[in-house]
Amino acid sequence: MDSTLANGKPESRSAIRHFLRLDDFSAAEINYVLNRARFLKQKFKNYEPHMPLHDRTLAMIFEKASTRTRVSFEAGMYQMGGVVINLTSNDSQLGRAEPIEDTARVISRMVDIVMIRTFEQTRLEKFAEHSRVPVINGLTNEFHPCQILADLLTFIEHKGDIKGKTITWIGDENNMSYTWLQAARLLDFKLNVSAPQGYQLQSDRISAAERAHLEEFDDPIAACKEADMITTDVWTSMGFEEENVKRKAAFKDWQVDQRLMQAAKPDALFMHCLPAHRGEEVTAEVIDGPQSVVWDEAENRLHAQKALMEFLLVGECK
Ligand code: CP
Ligand code: NVA
Repeated sequence: MDSTLANGKPESRSAIRHFLRLDDFSAAEINYVLNRARFLKQKFKNYEPHMPLHDRTLAMIFEKASTRTRVSFEAGMYQMGGVVINLTSNDSQLGRAEPIEDTARVISRMVDIVMIRTFEQTRLEKFAEHSRVPVINGLTNEFHPCQILADLLTFIEHKGDIKGKTITWIGDENNMSYTWLQAARLLDFKLNVSAPQGYQLQSDRISAAERAHLEEFDDPIAACKEADMITTDVWTSMGFEEENVKRKAAFKDWQVDQRLMQAAKPDALFMHCLPAHRGEEVTAEVIDGPQSVVWDEAENRLHAQKALMEFLLVGECK
């Protein structure tokens, strides 16, 4: 029997909404969450309590390191009146090879919502398949949808509607770049991408609809022309550490520096999901400079994810 959630509310497993990829949501749903995030942010700034999740429990599972995701989900759930349980591979039976399906069956009988950071997207999908409660992707090798929600929120706050704008991604084909591509398709903006040979987006991971929003460049400076925002990420994502030396050599001409910023629109923003390595993918001058909005971007993880959890647990609020 799968007809009862941990909190006693009857619901069939097939009706449960998850957030495993950005495009699990429609454009209208993403816009709803982003608007709601702005509303919740205002309440937070005004010290107005907002506790719609007062009887709810979030379980977080981290199979990779985290600072922002951990703190933003944990603080967000407490601020909305709920409680949080934090698990890692090291301190749970996941590290001793308990199957992910069994872990999902057990945890989802005890809590109301789960956030997972793990390796393969298929591992996350397997968890969701066996979960009685909504599951959120807190980063996989393939996607990082919570980060892109925060990035979209940050862009809109600084520049207004993102529709029709140009966002430039300087970096490899990683969880961030593929999620940006989903965002470009959903919210109708253009994504320029530049990466060294061997690290470019894989065509079999790009749909025809996404392709219509994408332009790829060999020259990183050309990719930045007319951009409303430039964004990048570490040259080596978590889980790929053994490639670090090779990647450092391959990416040396793909550093976001003043030359790249000057190729973009004069008021272009700079974003980075963080953590950043100054002197590698970005210079200190850029990330600590006037066009950088990385601290707003990091803070917006909190507001975007509060709106996301509220949406998954309570639905749309009028
Ligand atoms: N940007 C991001 O997800 O940061 P953490 O790895 O610190 O959670
Ligand atoms: N692409 C990076 C993002 C870190 C938040 C990684 O996966 O390590």
